[in-house]
Amino acid sequence: MSGRVAAADRLFFHCTELDRTNYPEFRDRIVRVESEGVVHEARSYPGVPRLALDRVRPRPWVSLEGTMRRRRSCRVLSTAQPSLRVLGRILHGAHGVNAELDRGPVPSGGGLQALELYAIAFAPGGLEAGVYHYDRRGHHLSRIVEGAEHAAWLARVPSMVQFEGGGLLWVLVGDGARVERKYGPRAFRFLLLEAGHLMQNLCLLSSSVGWCTLPLGGFFEKEIARELRLPAGDVVLYLAVLGRPAPSAGAI
Ligand SMILES: Cc1cc2nc3c(=O)[nH]c(=O)nc-3n(C[C@H](O)[C@H](O)[C@H](O)COP(=O)(O)O)c2cc1C
Repeated sequence: MSGRVAAADRLFFHCTELDRTNYPEFRDRIVRVESEGVVHEARSYPGVPRLALDRVRPRPWVSLEGTMRRRRSCRVLSTAQPSLRVLGRILHGAHGVNAELDRGPVPSGGGLQALELYAIAFAPGGLEAGVYHYDRRGHHLSRIVEGAEHAAWLARVPSMVQFEGGGLLWVLVGDGARVERKYGPRAFRFLLLEAGHLMQNLCLLSSSVGWCTLPLGGFFEKEIARELRLPAGDVVLYLAVLGRPAPSAGAI
């Protein structure tokens, strides 16, 4: 690989690094934006079909360390959808609001709570096929697109050829506009870091209920943003599939 290509490949890192020369601008922007005191509303989709999720209690007998040890990426998954109880547990545990200012289990740069979680359901089950948004405050799913064709999603997410089955896809999205206003170009690093926190929550909680969230790296961001009808400032960050490991399926 030529030096020029390598430098272009690293442009994102280069343009978002902090150093002594650009730190004052970064700091002053934060001070200015904080002084403006803008309050952000959690994202919600009023007027679309809603599906209430079960509110489940924490399970004190489930060991965090045991769950971390057992988590594995499985690639032979059933096509069944999780029950609303299982979904309710995973979603509230991974990304629900559990404190003031929309705080939840995911650390959030500047407390801006800029991560949105979407789910794509293919075969009808507990969920009609479609695209859903997880409403963190209301603990419900809002169906924002009716129907989801497996073949069309396979074309947008080439990583889907690497596993069998799967009940639904997770799509982690960042409200880029919200974070960029405060952090400039570094915002996009923060969103990716936060998405990693959220994905780990999804992986661990799925594993704790006998399911698997398998993270995916190959997907077409712009096509997915269009299909989800995302606002212009949003960025698609990370995808995963959720499925129940087939009985004999080992992780690879
Ligand atoms: C950023 C990222 C992208 C990944 N992309 C894929 C993928 O596209 N397809 C896949 O089958 N696994 C993918 N994985 C899962 C890894 O292959 C898996 O975590 C790794 O093999 C270690 O196995 P374990 O998760 O069971 O510990 C991805 C993991 C990460 C962190």
